[in-house]
Amino acid sequence: MTFADPADPDTAHFAHSQPLLSGRTLQLLEQADNATLADLTALRNEVSRFLMRYRFGVSEVETKLSILREEFNLTAGYNPIESISCRVKTMEGVLEKAARKGVDLDLAAIKDSLHDIAGVRVICSFVSDVYHIVDLLTSQDDITVLQVKDYIAAPKPNGYRSLHVILEVPVFLSSGPEPVRVEVQLRTIAMDFWASLEHKTYYKYDAQVPQHLLDGLTEAAETAASLDATMERLHHEVRGHRSSTDVAI
Ligand code: GTP
Ligand code: MG
Repeated sequence: MTFADPADPDTAHFAHSQPLLSGRTLQLLEQADNATLADLTALRNEVSRFLMRYRFGVSEVETKLSILREEFNLTAGYNPIESISCRVKTMEGVLEKAARKGVDLDLAAIKDSLHDIAGVRVICSFVSDVYHIVDLLTSQDDITVLQVKDYIAAPKPNGYRSLHVILEVPVFLSSGPEPVRVEVQLRTIAMDFWASLEHKTYYKYDAQVPQHLLDGLTEAAETAASLDATMERLHHEVRGHRSSTDVAI
C-alpha cells in the first residue's frame, strides 16, 4: 500500500532497505552517557508515536475507500476506483519540509502546519467517479474537510490536474479519539500517467526542464484531458446500452 512511483522522494525509501544507523552515528552512540541515551530513547519514542497516528489515519481512510469500492462492485457491478495507494512521510521528509517552509522544528508546530504527512492517492477511471467518490467520502459523519483544491476544474498552468482534499479523520487511541490530518489526491488514470511523467522529468532535470519539454508536457496534459472527456462519453453510452447479462465495465 505505497505510492508506487520510485521517483517520488517521499516514497523512495520504500524501494531499498538501508542500514538504520551510519558508522558515525554508531560511534556517537557508543560515546554517549546514560542520560544522553535516555533522552535519545525518549525522542525516538515520541517520534514513533507521532508518525504512528498518521499511519492509523491513512488506514482509516483506506478502509473507507475500500468499503466504497467493494460496495460499488457488489451492488452496481461497477468499479469506480482503479487503485488506492498510501504513504506516510519519513521523519526525515517531515523535518526537511518543515525546515523548507520555515516551520519550527517542534512536533506540535509541525502537526499544525504540515498537511501532507499522511497521503492517500485514489485513481479513478473517469472524472465523474473522482467527484462521486470524494462526495461519498467527505459526507461521512466522522470526516472533517479542511481544504479542497480542485485542479481539475482549474488546472495548474503546467497542465496538472487532480482533486486534492485535506481532511481530518478520528483515530481511536487508548487515550481517546484523536483527529489526524490526511491529504487525499484523486485523479483519473490519464491524469496520473501525466503527473508521474511530469514528476520524473522535473527531478531528472533538477527543476531546470528545457522549454520544449515543458511545452510538450502542457500539450500532453490537454490531450489527456480530451481523452478523459471522450472515454467518459463512451462509457456513459455503453452503460446506457448494458443488458443484465453483460459483464460490468
Ligand atoms: P506542497 O508544498 O508540495 O505540498 O504544495 P501545496 O501545499 O501548495 O499543495 P498542492 O495541493 O499544490 O500540491 C500538493 C501535492 O500535489 C504535491 O506534493 C504533489 O504530490 C502534487 N502536485 C501538485 N502540483 C503538481 C504538479 O505540477 N505536478 C505533479 N506531478 N504533482 C503535483
Ligand atoms: Mg504536499
